[in-house]
Amino acid sequence: MNIGTFDSGLGGLLITKSLISLMPEYNFCYLGDTLHVPYGSRSKDAIYEFTKNCIEYLFEKRDCKLIIIACNTATFATLRTLQQTYLKENYPDRRILGVVIPTVEEVIAKKYNSVGLLATQGTVNSDVYGIELRKLKPEIKLYSYPAPLLVPLVENNADEFAEPIIDSYVKKFIDKDIEAIILGCTHYPHYKNQIAKSAQKILGRKIDIISQDEFIPNSLKNYLSRHPEIEKDLSKDSKYLFEVTDINASYIEQAKTIFDDENIVIQKVDI
Ligand code: DGL
Repeated sequence: MNIGTFDSGLGGLLITKSLISLMPEYNFCYLGDTLHVPYGSRSKDAIYEFTKNCIEYLFEKRDCKLIIIACNTATFATLRTLQQTYLKENYPDRRILGVVIPTVEEVIAKKYNSVGLLATQGTVNSDVYGIELRKLKPEIKLYSYPAPLLVPLVENNADEFAEPIIDSYVKKFIDKDIEAIILGCTHYPHYKNQIAKSAQKILGRKIDIISQDEFIPNSLKNYLSRHPEIEKDLSKDSKYLFEVTDINASYIEQAKTIFDDENIVIQKVDI
């Protein structure tokens, strides 16, 4: 059986790439719901419906034992219901994991006292990071701002327009004593170096960047070592499948850039 990775769009592809580089022996099936991206400005009900359909596809048609919801927005909007109701009723021997808790654990492990968060409007409004961080460290300071325009920049392969947009988001932290910025959207690792540079330029000091591509793979590896009953069912043929619910020339170009591979195949599926 396979490991599924799911996102509203190409952010999940960045995370899938980092998963493949740490654990290349497993089979990965990535699905990006590019037909409905962005999720960040949608209602919770719509995000749940879209996510559930994609999850069902990965279970039914792609034989996934375990799915990583590589999307912060879908994680806050769907994970609890999917785990506590949907999985129990339909697929009790399979698993769905999100990206928020591993990120919160990373922030706590690094012992930060004051952090910034850039995420989608939905993730910021939900305060999922504030709620989860304060459970482990009640005194932590969190300053959250939406950075929605970074998503279409990635989806449209439009890096040349990124700099002033990134600067305008980083400026929100100008009078805040933050030690690190959490990139709370899986599209944002695409710009992590530029965000770090912008922070240095605008805030005048080095700010750590908490980027999910750097620790989600280790967190999955750790999960699998603690759950041999799941791991034993995973095939190890190093097969990778990349699918999206809508395709255009820019997705194909971006996939080639992300994997640095001219021959990468990314195909459209109907769900
Ligand atoms: N990549 C997604 C996330 O991590 C959201 C992008 C979007 O669809 O708005 O939240």
